[in-house]
Amino acid sequence: MDSEIIGIFDRVIRENRKLLTVYEAKLAISFYGLSVTEMGLARDLDEALEIAHKIGFPVVLKIVSPDIVHKTDVGGVILNIKNEEELEKAYQKMMKVVKGNVPNARIDGILVEEMLKPSVEVIIGGMRDRQFGPVVIFGLGGIFVEVFKDISYGIAPLVREEALDMIKNTRAYKILKGYRGKGPYDVDAIADLMVKTSNFIWTFREYIAEMDLNPVFVYEKGVKIADARIVCERENRL
Ligand SMILES: Nc1ncnc2c1ncn2[C@@H]1O[C@H](COP(=O)(O)OP(=O)(O)OP(=O)(O)O)[C@@H](O)[C@H]1O
Ligand SMILES: [Mg+2]
Repeated sequence: MDSEIIGIFDRVIRENRKLLTVYEAKLAISFYGLSVTEMGLARDLDEALEIAHKIGFPVVLKIVSPDIVHKTDVGGVILNIKNEEELEKAYQKMMKVVKGNVPNARIDGILVEEMLKPSVEVIIGGMRDRQFGPVVIFGLGGIFVEVFKDISYGIAPLVREEALDMIKNTRAYKILKGYRGKGPYDVDAIADLMVKTSNFIWTFREYIAEMDLNPVFVYEKGVKIADARIVCERENRL
């Protein structure tokens, strides 16, 4: 398991890159046992159709490129594709629009993944800190992070109790506990994912400069990672 993950990081370094593609990032964390969407990388429309049938409709398409950080901004995310005809249209449209927006971007293909049911979305992130080593952050997605800066921090590797405290230390915890007949959501599963993420960052700390799982969908039972970003940069050890 670790050797497959290191294989991904080594290839990124060999190719003089820093940013893992969404496919590489989700593959690496799934090798580590983190709960990601079902997915497959399609190099052409036929492969996309095959993967979609294996997963089952509705599906989501995402552009896979080492040169594109924000996929949505360039037309690189299409949600809720319900059948073959929609898939064909979406696939062709995405290729055309993305190539129009970023003509020089290298395109590895298009990721086909399961469409997740709407729910509460959280962010789990991490970064290498000069003083503390790898740190982990937690917050609820959307305006909670962007507007309210409602984020809590911890130092990797986290134990379960620390992860739970980090969740409880955000104002967003109220929402996770349940409100207006919605929830409660699976806080234990979030804590588990935070512990695993912190172990991942700790284990591969020589490689990982930054990572975020954003968004992670949280349900009444279980969690699933929809998007992952990992920046790989070999640490210079003195
Ligand atoms: N598999 C999925 N099922 C359902 N919704 C999804 C799925 N993947 C993504 N989304 C929704 O689409 C949004 C954008 O997707 P994603 O994060 O992959 O793209 P992005 O371009 O990296 O976005 P950002 O730049 O904001 O991080 C997500 O915040 C989420 O709400
Ligand atoms: Mg994202």
